[in-house]
Amino acid sequence: MAAETETPKGVFISFEGGDGTGKSTQINRLAEKLRIAGRNVVTTREPGGSPGADAIRALLLEGDPGRWSSLTEALLMYASRADHLERTIIPALANGAVVISDRFADSTMAYQGLAGSLGENTVKTLHDIVVGNRDPDLTIILDLPVEHGLKRAVTRGGEQRFESKGARYQEDVRQAFLEIARREPKRCTLVDARDDVDAVAERVFAAVRSRFPDIFSV
Ligand code: TYD
Repeated sequence: MAAETETPKGVFISFEGGDGTGKSTQINRLAEKLRIAGRNVVTTREPGGSPGADAIRALLLEGDPGRWSSLTEALLMYASRADHLERTIIPALANGAVVISDRFADSTMAYQGLAGSLGENTVKTLHDIVVGNRDPDLTIILDLPVEHGLKRAVTRGGEQRFESKGARYQEDVRQAFLEIARREPKRCTLVDARDDVDAVAERVFAAVRSRFPDIFSV
């Protein structure tokens, strides 16, 4: 029998956490280390990550904090996620890439489901329809006290719709991510993001290595 060529299976990693927890800096560090090891790396982000999803992103991040209800927000998030999965993530994984996404479905569970007024059952239903069993292989949750994160997010500028929902909401979001980490310890690793960038990066590398022991081997 002719040898079958195996479809290369990539690795899907998501980063989660409140606003200003340093996700993008840590994603850049991880992507750089993986590229040095010769991996094909695709970095992406939500909301957005494909042309259609980016168009929806603009609707979500601009305007009044009360512009959308939690339900509408979640539907828009999942509409953009469906496009992101179909057009960016799944093709890259089929190509053998390490896909690193700045936020994914846990953000909807945290922001709209647990901290927002939607509740988790509606989010779970949307998740089953759109994501199914295509969850990330590993989710790094960066944890930081809310006052640190908001300071960073405001200094950084950019769209402020979610940041302007207030410190109370951000604290609920932080607790929601801690709860998600407790519920899914196999997929999620909680990383303390209070220290300097290098120390946090080492923690992130250790979490990735412990799940995929050979991933940094050249
Ligand atoms: P962004 O400017 O990308 O901020 P960050 O760097 O913190 O990711 O804004 C994304 C905002 O959208 C962020 O405040 C979290 C929010 N969000 C949700 O509320 N639900 C979701 O499903 C996603 C993906 C993001």
